[in-house]
Amino acid sequence: MVLPALDIPADRAADSRRVSITRSVSTSPTATFMSPPSSFSGARKASVKHLKPFNTGDIKILLLENVNQTGRDILLKQGYQVEFLKSSLPEDKLIEKIRDVHVIGIRSKTKLTANVLREAKNLIVIGCFCIGTNQVDLQYAADHGIAVFNSPFSNSRSVAELVIGEIIALARQLGDRSNELHQGIWNKVSKGCWEVRGKTLGIIGYGHIGSQLSVLAEAMGMSVIYYDIVNLMALGTSKQVPDLGVLLGEADFVTCHVPELPETQRMIGPKQFEQMRTGSYLINASRGSVVDIPALIDAMRTGKVAGAALDVYPNEPAGNGNYFHNDLNTWAEDLRSLKNLILTPHIGGSTEEAQSAIGIEVGEALVRYVNEGVTLGAVNMPEVNLRSLTLEDSDHIRVIFIHQNIPGVLRKVNEILGDHNVDKQMTDSRGDVAYLMADISNVDHNGVRELYEELESLNSCIKTRILY
Ligand SMILES: NC(=O)c1ccc[n+]([C@@H]2O[C@H](COP(=O)([O-])OP(=O)(O)OC[C@H]3O[C@@H](n4cnc5c(N)ncnc54)[C@H](O)[C@@H]3O)[C@@H](O)[C@H]2O)c1
Repeated sequence: MVLPALDIPADRAADSRRVSITRSVSTSPTATFMSPPSSFSGARKASVKHLKPFNTGDIKILLLENVNQTGRDILLKQGYQVEFLKSSLPEDKLIEKIRDVHVIGIRSKTKLTANVLREAKNLIVIGCFCIGTNQVDLQYAADHGIAVFNSPFSNSRSVAELVIGEIIALARQLGDRSNELHQGIWNKVSKGCWEVRGKTLGIIGYGHIGSQLSVLAEAMGMSVIYYDIVNLMALGTSKQVPDLGVLLGEADFVTCHVPELPETQRMIGPKQFEQMRTGSYLINASRGSVVDIPALIDAMRTGKVAGAALDVYPNEPAGNGNYFHNDLNTWAEDLRSLKNLILTPHIGGSTEEAQSAIGIEVGEALVRYVNEGVTLGAVNMPEVNLRSLTLEDSDHIRVIFIHQNIPGVLRKVNEILGDHNVDKQMTDSRGDVAYLMADISNVDHNGVRELYEELESLNSCIKTRILY
């Protein structure tokens, strides 16, 4: 390990903003060992006792796919070097760029496969500025000490509002009336059209989205019941019911907000449609696997179900275009022929507000990880947190030791840390990877170097970071 010097590279010297950041002291309480604070440079040994926060200007970030401005602003404010591109990159270009960066921010189109990550020698963290993380080889990343963050709940409100819109649209057959008039047909009807006030909404899955929806529905005068495998406190005057059958038998509108799990696969199928009230409505904006669509088609043809809104499907195309046909899902044409059926292309969470919230959530998670090593919300690492170091802890350092989860590691680590005063320490594991965080006081420059080298020399070591 060679401690980097403080020299400003020529390509950065031209950038006056970066130069000023490089020379100033950031307000970050901690630092990575890759970018030590000025107090650790040989030239400034006199100030070793006054440990300063590190120079965040040395952290290089690549943001692809037009990551929202809110996320960019958070990262720029830290003084990191941020390169921003509007599109994703083909694999060869991505490999070229990823070699140099400590942080990469992507959305759903950039594929971070093992092949790409293998080249990312400096990478410590990946930010997925979206909900899904399928585009990243999470196991490879964890095995190489690269944390991955996403934003699973930033769009809950957007989904809840879409569902509210759909409840009224189904009750009033708005989709059909609008389609008819688009074709020049005036069809003024009131039969089979209802107010939603006084009707019962049955929510399956009372999590982030389900509970938001509960509050909004009650504001429109609906009664709310919900079914969840967990016993959850009811909001407003809503009521939890003991099983799915009870909910289906009582609800005028049934809406699904469960995760995709083996137990939720086709959880609404022929038997459940039988249990539903005749003339009730079904909404699914959760996952396409949750509703058995051929069974829904049957239930709508017989009039058991008076209308439905689907936002998600078992197979969804990768991009926009003329794809919603039988070769995508075998029943697509039958589905499209049904009346009072609202079909939307997985837009539940697609709002400007959600994008902005995603930028903030992921941007802040990246800053916390880079500056403090906190893994709360990581999708491929154990979640580890210690209270922040402050400027009063001027002689403290934070040790992050990502290691293989094998017997005997902690004994060896504690032997290394044992010569120092360990103020606080936390360790946790997830599968084969374990994450240790320890705050240590009274460590001088040489001590930091020794600690780093000793930890790095352990066979179990995946990645060591030391933050000041
Ligand atoms: N349409 C979209 O654009 C969009 C956007 C965001 C989320 N989603 C989907 O919405 C769904 C819900 O999201 P969320 O953020 O509210 O999730 P969440 O994790 O906050 O809540 C899910 C709830 O479902 C419950 N649950 C799990 N298994 C269950 C079962 N077998 N029966 C009953 N309840 C069960 C859980 O206990 C939890 O309370 C997810 O499938 C998510 O992928 C869709």
